[in-house]
Amino acid sequence: MKDALLYEGKAKQVYAAKNKPGQLVLSYKNDATAFNGEKKEVFNGKGRLNNEISSRIFPILHENGIKTHFIERLNETEQLVYQTEIIPLEVVVRNKATGSITKRLGIKEKTPFEPPLVELFYKDDDLGDPLINDEHALFLSNVTPSELKEIKATALEINKSLSTLFESINITLVDFKLEFGRMEDGRIVLADEISPDTCRLWDSNTQEKLDKDVFRQGTGDLIEVYEEILQRLEATS
Ligand code: TMP
Ligand code: ASP
Repeated sequence: MKDALLYEGKAKQVYAAKNKPGQLVLSYKNDATAFNGEKKEVFNGKGRLNNEISSRIFPILHENGIKTHFIERLNETEQLVYQTEIIPLEVVVRNKATGSITKRLGIKEKTPFEPPLVELFYKDDDLGDPLINDEHALFLSNVTPSELKEIKATALEINKSLSTLFESINITLVDFKLEFGRMEDGRIVLADEISPDTCRLWDSNTQEKLDKDVFRQGTGDLIEVYEEILQRLEATS
């Protein structure tokens, strides 16, 4: 199913797909990291949960007309995707204020953003993924001004799809991070993963955190809350 290991990140390994040129196997790890890798722990079952959750979300985006790298879930911890060249931008969409923006700009926790905010961060661990503006993004990555506009518009479309999906399972999508990649034919598509590692998900009634913040802040059981997200998603199909 897979050939050589091409790349290992903090949460996933990336392999060449066997006999499938232009395709990759993403293998989800059990490692959780926070604060640019400073805090680290292994959680049995995390890889499976994020693979299952991401593998349910990407097809829903396809149904809503979003182009992505996702092909199919292969097994418990692996999925098949199209190979892309990752654009070194982390695109964050925020519906409510929490996390870094509250500290950076002094915005009160839970302040709603209407319309939602889109922020760009430069994907560079050595620099700690700094916040950048559009001009920086054009300088630091190989996207054109119209592609950057398209990426931001697509991020907002994804926000609509995901907010509707999560609302249907009584979860508020507070914010999330996306990565985009360039396919061999030049098109830019959504890449990476969408999971409780990359989203802030709050129970709509209790405001309970059902995402990686329980690990970042040491306030709960990561596996329990990721399992809760998967179970609620499974109940929709
Ligand atoms: P932030 O409030 O820390 O900037 O995070 C914004 C969103 O991005 C939140 O949903 C968590 C996600 N995120 C990642 O997926 N990877 C990261 O490295 C960071 C810092 C945040
Ligand atoms: N993924 C990032 C890291 O390890 C940070 C985070 O998600 O909070 O370090």
